[in-house]
Amino acid sequence: MSSESKTSGLFTTESATLPSGKPTWLRNPPRHVAIIMDGNGRWAMQRHLPRILGHRAGASAVRTIVTATRAWEIPYLTLYAFSWENWSRPRHEVDALMALLEEYIEREIGTLIQKEIRFSVVGDRSRLPAAVRDKISWAESRTEGLDRMVLTLALSYSGREEIVRAAARFAIDVQKGLANPDDLSEDRFARYLESTTLPPPDLLIRTSGEVRISNFFLWQIAYAELYFTTTLWPDFGEEDYRRALTSFQERKRRFGKTEDSPGGLSV
Ligand code: FPP
Repeated sequence: MSSESKTSGLFTTESATLPSGKPTWLRNPPRHVAIIMDGNGRWAMQRHLPRILGHRAGASAVRTIVTATRAWEIPYLTLYAFSWENWSRPRHEVDALMALLEEYIEREIGTLIQKEIRFSVVGDRSRLPAAVRDKISWAESRTEGLDRMVLTLALSYSGREEIVRAAARFAIDVQKGLANPDDLSEDRFARYLESTTLPPPDLLIRTSGEVRISNFFLWQIAYAELYFTTTLWPDFGEEDYRRALTSFQERKRRFGKTEDSPGGLSV
């Protein structure tokens, strides 16, 4: 298609594309987008609805954003769907969220396979209910090897915990004589992280007006561009996503360098 969509104007997955298949407005896309999906509860409260209906509306926004990510050829998307700290929410909300996750995986697996999207999870799955764990393993094995995009859900996830576990794994390798503290570098340490196969996020988006990281990907976001929006997650649609990606493209990424550094600003 050579022009913007006939139906819904500027903001659409069907906009003009470059020969590579990327939309023309996305000349410099991030490789990995990570999103802290926040504001489901407030969305529901504003409508005098139970919080779980906010999460359900949030699951629908997940579908929109996964579809756009795939259409715009961004290869990695990670969604912070349930934090380690979320376990202290009321039991009925935790149970409802777990049921929603199971339902989401079951419902979306066909689309993931059809669109060649690999499904993966980071976080402490030992704390998840067995039914959710089984559903995750099932979805991971059914989408194994698919490589047009990787969709990762951070579930029961804590950035600090991931670093602590990596340190413990490294210590075990030292005890076994497989590693040496004198040779430890950032790159070597990163190989002990559970999320080691994911490239670091280039863009981290947080919805709902909160301006904090909440223990998400602490190691990985060292050089990520941050984008905060007041839009509540269930309302975060393609237009909002496109705005975030447009803002990303306007950023000058320095990675601690200046324009006069040897090699300029390239990584
Ligand atoms: C934060 O909103 C959101 C969560 C704790 C859960 C995120 C879950 C979903 C988007 C739906 C299920 C996910 C998938 C992948 C199907 P909040 O409840 O903290 O909102 P509040 O700050 O307004 O209370």
